[in-house]
Amino acid sequence: MKVLVVYYSLYGHVHRLAEAVAEGAKEVPGTQVELRRVPETLPEEVLVKMGALETQKALARIPVCEVDELASADAIIFGSPTRFGNMCGQMRQFLDATGQLWAKGALVGKVGSVFTSSATQHGGQESTILSFHITLLHHGMIVVGLPYTFQGQTRIDEITGGAPYGASTIAGGKGERMPSENELAAAHFQGKHVATIASKLTK
Ligand SMILES: Cc1cc2nc3c(=O)[nH]c(=O)nc-3n(C[C@H](O)[C@H](O)[C@H](O)COP(=O)(O)O)c2cc1C
Repeated sequence: MKVLVVYYSLYGHVHRLAEAVAEGAKEVPGTQVELRRVPETLPEEVLVKMGALETQKALARIPVCEVDELASADAIIFGSPTRFGNMCGQMRQFLDATGQLWAKGALVGKVGSVFTSSATQHGGQESTILSFHITLLHHGMIVVGLPYTFQGQTRIDEITGGAPYGASTIAGGKGERMPSENELAAAHFQGKHVATIASKLTK
């Protein structure tokens, strides 16, 4: 049973969540987990201006996802930073290249799930995840979120991401906040939850 974790991360927040998602998925016996980045669309000079070049160089070790790889997975967990309350353009462009897969119904019946990061606490995490789900549903995927059995999402003693729609983190206006333990636990839970469901479906 194969789980793909496909994401874009400019400053490393979504990447950190992606690692936790992958760790969670790996805990399900018989699960093979692969981390993949979607292709960058920004030129290097823009990445420099955005102060993201160092992070991008560090993430270069993660293989870039080929669209056809999606068809070989039993479950795909997508991660995208929030951009104006929506997924980032890099992810949109990647998904818009999946028309051939859609035409063949190649993703029908696979499990799909989404996690995100935003700068601010109410900056559109839920709208990012829920609007992402629309694309997954067009592909005929079975959408899975983060159930309340992950009780960390009910916490109010500290600022935290995480919602029934999926794991999330709050990066701060300057990207100064990395995912907290609770947010990483949410991502871990989501990865394990998706892999558990996909494992049952493939039996
Ligand atoms: C063009 C642009 C639009 C953004 N829009 C939002 C937004 O709507 N709400 C928000 O809270 N953060 C917004 N952000 C901040 C990103 O969500 C933040 O940089 C990201 O979560 C960091 O994750 P990463 O390090 O994985 O890229 C935006 C950032 C950029 C560059």
